[in-house]
Amino acid sequence: MSKTSLINLQNLTGERIGRLFSIADDLADTKAAPSSKSFNKGLTAALIFLEPSTRTRMSFEIACLREGVGPVVFDSATGTSLEKGETFEDTMLNIAAMKPSLIVVRSNDTLDMAAVDAQVEAPIINAGWGRQGHPTQALLDAYTLKSRTGRLQGERLLIIGDVRHSRVASSHLELAPLLGYEIGFCGPRAFMPEAPTVKVFDRLQDGLDWATGVMSLRVQLERHDSQIDLADYHALWGINKNNLKSIRPDAYLMHPGPINWGVEMSADVMKDSRNVILKQVESGARIRQALVRVTLDPKGNS
Ligand code: CP
Repeated sequence: MSKTSLINLQNLTGERIGRLFSIADDLADTKAAPSSKSFNKGLTAALIFLEPSTRTRMSFEIACLREGVGPVVFDSATGTSLEKGETFEDTMLNIAAMKPSLIVVRSNDTLDMAAVDAQVEAPIINAGWGRQGHPTQALLDAYTLKSRTGRLQGERLLIIGDVRHSRVASSHLELAPLLGYEIGFCGPRAFMPEAPTVKVFDRLQDGLDWATGVMSLRVQLERHDSQIDLADYHALWGINKNNLKSIRPDAYLMHPGPINWGVEMSADVMKDSRNVILKQVESGARIRQALVRVTLDPKGNS
């Protein structure tokens, strides 16, 4: 049987996404939502996180435990053969040779995740790959959006900020056409893609007028060569009490996290009823649990 890795969203079908969302719905009303599988069947997931993560890593660990899959975490070069110069690719091939049931990996752009996937037996889930993509984040955003609005078709999601460096924006560009929502970008020119394939708004207010929902992105200071004036950035592109008034009352306010408060958003957002930022995190645990389940049991036999 062929494995069902998730490296990007290009080959995902509406049917597979619908199944994920439906399992996530079923998990909604239970706190722990334990699987019927016992924990001791020898299923293991190698969680390889060589870039920082809180939400993605913890939610995959929780998802695995709830599915009866033992998570084994590799999250630092310290004390490993990476310190002796072993490459990340060799590290992954060696971990894969130990036959985990599943590999979840966060890496920078230097790893060719697709090439590793082609060489190993275990399915690989991309948990954030450099600037290339963060498919589970886009899925959990879309799931949150659908839970909030009841539909995705016709929704207009304004992504504000550092689109050029954003793996989240890359994954939304793949997911939006599959699910029927529209994407718009807004932010400083230097943060916009060189050849955008979606609407780009030069003024925040124009984007806010167009959007049915808003997602601010973290300014990735670590990926910029030049200094950014964060107060100027907030004045032009931040969501705050001045522009919250002009966002439609039925909109939703999202951020994938982590947030630079006072830069992408002011603390006023936290108190706003349209804020679904922690709902995104809740959705993330459910979507990732659903993904672990269907990845290990694509036909739903157990
Ligand atoms: N959104 C997201 O990927 O958060 P973490 O970096 O904390 O996993």
